[in-house]
Amino acid sequence: MRLKGKRALVTGGASGIGKAIVAKFLTEGALVLIVDKNKGELEKTCDEFKKTGHPCKGIVTDLRDRGQLDVLVEHAWSCWDGVDVLVNNAGIAVREPFLDIEADRWDEILAINLSAIFYLTQKITKKMIEHVVKGSIVNMASKNGIAGSSALAHYNTSKGGIILLTESIAVELAGKGIRVNALAPGFIETPLDQKLKQADDSLSLTERTPMQRLGTAEEVANCALFLASDEASYVTGSTLVVDGGHLANASEL
Ligand SMILES: NC(=O)c1ccc[n+]([C@@H]2O[C@H](COP(=O)([O-])OP(=O)(O)OC[C@H]3O[C@@H](n4cnc5c(N)ncnc54)[C@H](O)[C@@H]3O)[C@@H](O)[C@H]2O)c1
Repeated sequence: MRLKGKRALVTGGASGIGKAIVAKFLTEGALVLIVDKNKGELEKTCDEFKKTGHPCKGIVTDLRDRGQLDVLVEHAWSCWDGVDVLVNNAGIAVREPFLDIEADRWDEILAINLSAIFYLTQKITKKMIEHVVKGSIVNMASKNGIAGSSALAHYNTSKGGIILLTESIAVELAGKGIRVNALAPGFIETPLDQKLKQADDSLSLTERTPMQRLGTAEEVANCALFLASDEASYVTGSTLVVDGGHLANASEL
């Protein structure tokens, strides 16, 4: 068991990639607290995992609301008496042309996808340092944080920001024994991905991917497990691309 006894906090863990990460972490011996704004899905997910005897709890929080973050951090710390692993996975995406993006939407996407990671990670790592916890932070970026695309200016900006935030704080926290890494998934089959596909039926995602298929949430979860675990003990400030070769093929797209 690669996370035996590790106390993990996973944001956006009630659906898609986050839920697969929770499942993987529980199988590998972690104690998991899921954070999600969707109360119904969160309760369903926690019940599902608890029925199989796994140590899983949930807390409803809207990560956009900075006022809720102190409560969240205190709850997270008392839930399993500390936090060793933080997975900043929650995120949203909307396809719309740059010229149509309204200020509220820009603010919303940046607030959830980027600013919430900054605030939550700062609060959690302060606690880790205070309690001398050698922690691991895994941030969910995207291939869209590495190369641009149309109709996702706000999303792509938020994901690019995550990658530089990851590198910057990895440097500052290395001396405290805290590793910080990011994942950059490509096209992964999840509810969010379905929404994006519905918004643009002309996309042929499999054709654009050298491996000729979409990735699964479990394949991303396997990489999150590696970065969270001691197997990645000399890995910090890295972004692991999980995209079936999509970015490697950029000049063909
Ligand atoms: N699916 C893909 O193809 C893909 C590719 C690259 C990156 N990603 C990233 O992976 C992450 C997960 O994506 P997914 O496809 O599993 O999406 P999803 O929509 O299936 O799950 C996202 C979860 O985050 C929660 N959430 C959203 N806003 C929140 C908020 N303000 N506060 C708390 N919880 C909130 C949702 O309720 C949901 O449970 C996102 O950051 C996304 O950008 C996804």
